[in-house]
Amino acid sequence: MTIQRSRAETELKFPTDFIWGAATAAYQIEGAVSEDGRGPSIWDTFAHTPGKVLGGDTGDVATDHYHRFREDVALMASLGLTAYRFSISWSRVRPGGTGPVNAKGLDFYRRLVDTLLEAGIQPWPTLYHWDLPQPLEDAGGWPARDTAYRFAEYAQLLCDALGDRVVNWTTINEPWCAAFLGYASGDHAPGRREPGASLNAAHHLLLGHGLAAQSLRGEGRNVGASVNLYAVSPASDAPEDVDAARRIDGLQNRLFLDALLRGTYPEDVIADLGDFAPDVHDGDMKIIGGSVDQLGINYYNRFFVTGKEGAARAITSPFAEASPWPASEHVGFVQVGRPVTAMGWEIDESGLSEVLTRVAEEYPSVPLYVTENGAAFDDVVAEGENGDGPRVDDPDRVAYIEAHLRACHTAISAGVPLRGYFCWSLLDNFEWGWGYAKRFGLVYVDFLTQARIPKTSAQWYSSVIGQGGLGT
Ligand code: NOJ
Repeated sequence: MTIQRSRAETELKFPTDFIWGAATAAYQIEGAVSEDGRGPSIWDTFAHTPGKVLGGDTGDVATDHYHRFREDVALMASLGLTAYRFSISWSRVRPGGTGPVNAKGLDFYRRLVDTLLEAGIQPWPTLYHWDLPQPLEDAGGWPARDTAYRFAEYAQLLCDALGDRVVNWTTINEPWCAAFLGYASGDHAPGRREPGASLNAAHHLLLGHGLAAQSLRGEGRNVGASVNLYAVSPASDAPEDVDAARRIDGLQNRLFLDALLRGTYPEDVIADLGDFAPDVHDGDMKIIGGSVDQLGINYYNRFFVTGKEGAARAITSPFAEASPWPASEHVGFVQVGRPVTAMGWEIDESGLSEVLTRVAEEYPSVPLYVTENGAAFDDVVAEGENGDGPRVDDPDRVAYIEAHLRACHTAISAGVPLRGYFCWSLLDNFEWGWGYAKRFGLVYVDFLTQARIPKTSAQWYSSVIGQGGLGT
């Protein structure tokens, strides 16, 4: 496509059919991990292994959404959300990963979907947000090719159960994290540190996506995958920095974009990987390529990359930790002094318009959705005055979301087919290895009482939705 560079910056209305959403994921919010026939997932096992999650936190209770989903849907409706992205726990609907279906688990998602539809909110389920049933990990996990076929069966099961009511489906969430944090750095479940296996995990996640898409597509249903994309810049013009940026962009962005949208893996990445390259069978890339009707993009920040040997690593990064394969040797991430969120991630909204424009310009055109964007900050509850309830003022989060919505608007004005935005997250929740220490929610959760307190950002986002855009 040709991107128009002229911008209409003064008009910050979004298209009238723009989707305004918020997102969550099953293990991060549901709790009720042993209820109604749910089986263990790799995250149950990992979180219960001492030393894996900060503070020993687990998702056992989380935000208790399993019991409070009606209250949470009412909250979404009060904010005016037009869509809600959530994930389905494979372990709840098919505890063994394969074999018998757990009717009570399926019923939960039927009730959730029906409650959303009654509230006028489009359900956007994700089938895999990192919580593989433990029995499938015991059988080899994502590095085992068979897992892709089990995933396709699970997708078919959900399509049979909800396909008449759900239009927009996401298969896999952030396969980079599932593969490389799960199987290379070991920072995420299942905590394996096997770089070669991690590339096969990435390939099988993509293959599972492609096979699942075959089950889900058709009859008015749209299928996508959500990938975590980063703006990647070399820290300097030095050739080693430029090459490090190429390698990181390759593993982080192009590996997934090329596979999903072109049906190939980038040649330079495969060459860099050498013996660690994934085991691709004849026909796999055809299944993966062209398998999306729409693409979900999760964006949080930009990486400045250096390839200078011995360069100071200003921040630790999954790549710095998980660098046993040649492609990420001598790669460091440097910070450039921009403001950071509570995760230590530098805030750079220009990276979002850059990423969106890049995908639109360089790849076959599909509708794009920002399926995650948001920020953790150290929120504080203030007691209300004059009988008002407690409140949480989070101007930094408002500023972060506003800046990124402006970046979305810039991209739309340039002709990028961006159709919606989902804020991460609706609720404060279990932030993986960080447990409950990092709060991303528009809505504050008191984890002792499970009280929900909409933050200032929730009210602000609600008014943006009401106006269909940002004030000029
Ligand atoms: C991406 C993941 O999909 C989500 O689960 C996580 O909580 C956010 N990023 C924030 O780290």
